[in-house]
Amino acid sequence: MNVLLTGGLGFIGGHTAISLSRIGHSVYIYDSLINSDKTSIEILNQICDNEIFCQIGDILDTKSLTRFIESNKIDTVIHFAALKSPFESISNPSIYFNNNISGTISLIRAMENNKINSLIFSSSASVYGPPEYNPMDEKHPENPINPYGKSKLLSEKILKDLAKFQDWKIIILRYFNPIGAHKSRIFGEFANEKSNNLLPYLYRVAKGDFEFLSIYGNNFDTGDGTGIRDYIDVMDVADGHIKSLEYMFNNDNYKKDNASIFNLGTGTGVSVLEMIELFEQVTGIEIKYKFEDRRQGDVGICIADPSKAMEYLNWKSKITTEESINNGWNFFKNNC
Ligand code: NAD
Ligand code: UFG
Repeated sequence: MNVLLTGGLGFIGGHTAISLSRIGHSVYIYDSLINSDKTSIEILNQICDNEIFCQIGDILDTKSLTRFIESNKIDTVIHFAALKSPFESISNPSIYFNNNISGTISLIRAMENNKINSLIFSSSASVYGPPEYNPMDEKHPENPINPYGKSKLLSEKILKDLAKFQDWKIIILRYFNPIGAHKSRIFGEFANEKSNNLLPYLYRVAKGDFEFLSIYGNNFDTGDGTGIRDYIDVMDVADGHIKSLEYMFNNDNYKKDNASIFNLGTGTGVSVLEMIELFEQVTGIEIKYKFEDRRQGDVGICIADPSKAMEYLNWKSKITTEESINNGWNFFKNNC
């Protein structure tokens, strides 16, 4: 199929492009470069046997996106393009709502202009908000606490209504904490000063950019007091999209309305201190750290129940956290 990846030059979109190309799909990327770099096109084309096509453009530009879909005879869309920092979204809500919600609406209109109606959407565990129980299944109440999470939930609701009233095929994937990198060592997460996730920060400490890692909170109700998350390898996340495409197009059980939301996580949690220990074991590099106050809005534990993805998509995570750390670090130390 001809698959359009909005935001396909980013961390998760780029890895999904590699997986799609490997199994013979033609990949077309549309990306504004707001959080990526043009050089990623060449890197992706070095890794992939089949050429990946890319146009630089903003999904808010409905006319240009309409033309791109038309001229490349796109069959289906995976929608990654979004701004993704919960913390930045608190100081810039309107920018997040415009990019993430208006961007999604613009994409829908461009697809309608071309009479295509199937889409896989990158959503996030942040739509759940503070966990009422762990692991969280897809029935967990949705109560996002920042504009980023709200932008994802509102986009989900718009897409679900298209499935309900307009016969669209929609699959919503809620990622937990993607980490790792492709084993080629040349494509991964190009961390910048806006990256405030744990692994990019840890890598920068290991590389000597910072003297120590700030651990945000040591008094959560967890075994060692530090935050626990469900870290999932990015190639496993990419595979979740492949399985979703198969389910959407090749499985008679696909019900556009009621079986369309899936958690992508491992089902197990790792604390910040455990992650430091694993990193030290894998790389042999000692990480200095300091405890600091909790970040605003951080929760103690956030773990996926991924059993629905297993049941419907025949998907589960395969890559160990150690392997992810190894691949992520090998990429980071050579490229960032
Ligand atoms: P990323 O920032 O690396 O990639 C997003 C890409 O989208 C970037 O290349 C950026 O330039 C592009 N983009 C953003 N706005 C655009 C616009 N208006 N028009 C065209 N391109 C635009 O992020 P990622 O980690 O690859 O995340 C991909 C998706 O997954 C996002 O929707 C994000 O919200 C979601 N998600 C990510 C995580 C995570 O921890 N990485 C967790 C849950 C959900
Ligand atoms: N942490 C530190 N020090 C750091 C960075 C993080 O101690 O320098 C801790 C956090 O307090 C948390 C854990 O490491 O306990 C993980 O933090 P991340 O920032 O890596 O990830 P979050 O779980 O806070 O958020 C991520 C994405 C969100 C997404 C969410 C759920 O950044 O976009 O997972 O999918 F919504």
